[in-house]
Amino acid sequence: MDKLKGLDLEGKLVLDAGTGAGNMTRYLENWGAEVVSIDLNSKWQMECRESVKRTQFITGDLSDLNFLKGDRFDYVICNFVISALSETKNLLMTSALREFYRVLKKGGTLVIIDYYPFRAEDTPSSLHDVQTQLWNLENAVSELLGEGHLEEYPPDVISQELKSIGFQNTDVSILLDEVPWPMDLLKEHESLILEDIEKLDDPEIKEAFKKKLRILIERAKSEEVRSGSIYELRAIV
Ligand SMILES: C[S@@+](CC[C@H](N)C(=O)[O-])C[C@H]1O[C@@H](n2cnc3c(N)ncnc32)[C@H](O)[C@@H]1O
Repeated sequence: MDKLKGLDLEGKLVLDAGTGAGNMTRYLENWGAEVVSIDLNSKWQMECRESVKRTQFITGDLSDLNFLKGDRFDYVICNFVISALSETKNLLMTSALREFYRVLKKGGTLVIIDYYPFRAEDTPSSLHDVQTQLWNLENAVSELLGEGHLEEYPPDVISQELKSIGFQNTDVSILLDEVPWPMDLLKEHESLILEDIEKLDDPEIKEAFKKKLRILIERAKSEEVRSGSIYELRAIV
């Protein structure tokens, strides 16, 4: 995938917004960037710490970066994070985008990489029913756990938001058209959903969700499940 194509990262100060499993953190460090990697969840960061050398890890909320000085970063990279911002979605997304604008230098670039929304009418991909049902199941479990649900935004909605904040030259490109979901990714997804189901209190609801998950995963193995298209959005301060 041509992620971050043409960006000069060598020696640049980069905010990796949302460490997650640390794939982007490692990538940025390998390209010679000075990385500050932030996530709400310190568990992932502990694991990632072992595979990088210079990165500074901070546990914090992207919607309130008051611990970072403004006008400082050359790049903010948001790799599959906008769709994971939890709870009061719109407010949180706007707050995070405002914070990215504040911490970027004049001329600095925000890069957002994410999936096109599954259900939006303007999505370029029509997703398989199993995929949509898995998505719904995941969101239902999240809601019951009080964690809010995942929300994917069409890039033009994000672009409008960015322009109203003050970003310029917003540019969107498709990185990857819909592709078959690899089996290992499906397995990983299954275990993540299962982990969340196990946290539920009600044994009957738990069983019902597990059963539904088993059925969907079996269907996904025998039918061809495809993932949505991925876009890269760049905006300049
Ligand atoms: C899909 S993962 C990110 C993947 C990662 N960027 C990579 O390239 O491997 C989404 C991450 O966003 C984090 N996240 C969600 N809401 C957040 C918030 N408000 N502040 C900081 N991190 C947040 C989650 O904890 C999760 O680790």
